[in-house]
Amino acid sequence: MTKDTIAPYPAARLRRLRQAAWSRRLVAEHTLSPADLIWPVFVKEGSGGPDPVPSMPGVNRLALNDVVRAAEEAVTLGIPVIALFPEVPGDRKSDDAREAYNPDNLVCRAVRRIKAAVPGVGIMCDVALDPFNSAGHDGLVRNGEILNDETVEVLVKQALVQAEAGADILAPSDMMDGRIGAIRHALEHAGHKHTMIMSYTAKYASGFYGPFRDAIGSAASLGKSGKHSYQMNPANADEALREAAQDVAEGADMLIVKPGLPYLDVLYRIKNSFGLPTFAYQVSGEYAMLQAAAANGWLDLDHAVMESLTAFKRAGADGILTYFAPMAARLLREY
Ligand code: PBG
Repeated sequence: MTKDTIAPYPAARLRRLRQAAWSRRLVAEHTLSPADLIWPVFVKEGSGGPDPVPSMPGVNRLALNDVVRAAEEAVTLGIPVIALFPEVPGDRKSDDAREAYNPDNLVCRAVRRIKAAVPGVGIMCDVALDPFNSAGHDGLVRNGEILNDETVEVLVKQALVQAEAGADILAPSDMMDGRIGAIRHALEHAGHKHTMIMSYTAKYASGFYGPFRDAIGSAASLGKSGKHSYQMNPANADEALREAAQDVAEGADMLIVKPGLPYLDVLYRIKNSFGLPTFAYQVSGEYAMLQAAAANGWLDLDHAVMESLTAFKRAGADGILTYFAPMAARLLREY
């Protein structure tokens, strides 16, 4: 747009187009659809009923039967993908995180059950060791150091059992260097050439992951130990472009920026620089903030949620991972 094309007031009255619901809809630059949503779901062992996550009102850990029901609900609501996160029992956690590549672990069983019952939904799995690691870290720990290359070897084994179980999208969220290339190479070698990789390319060492760590039970193991030696410094944005460049070169199909609203600038720059399908993760702490304010009567939940999701689209997101996915999809149907 050049300066000459901007008519002065009163020839241009920008409020003219805002006066009716129909005209606002007509000129909307961005729209949100259920097809933009990825629904993260917590999976637990056993056959008990839904187990509420206290710091995430409305979110539950689900046993396998209920996970299948959630997958059916996703299809009914037009949500294309569900992302699985396991709460692994303490006796399955170890310092070598070997449960991560057990082909019968909770995640792999969930994938097989969903694939058999609900073939129409995309299934995404997190590739990282934190649910399986007694230290609660995404990588193996030796003498306080988070090991990079040794961790990548385990991530590759984890990725392979997930792909073998039928996962459609693998989402490495660990931030080790070189893991996208190693996983892509192993997938090709094992005949999983169609498995997609959605890389958590710019994942920040954020204070907004607390409720998630409660949900999967990694908070207690992690204690006061932070993830700053592998997740990105919130002060950096140029560095996110270097991360993304590597992941693209190593074979990522799609990219994630995480957390969501505090990092719209990073999302915008990554989308503009690489043009890959790029997703925002509205994380557990963002969910908790909105729910808490709404529970106090301090803001209108529907309004604030739809605004936040639209903001991701405006900043360039092709879609959003959000715990609000089923609620938002229902609201969108009412329009
Ligand atoms: C860990 C992982 C985390 C989330 C997704 N995968 C947390 C962490 O890095 O500690 C956070 C999701 C959320 O907060 O909603 N691999």
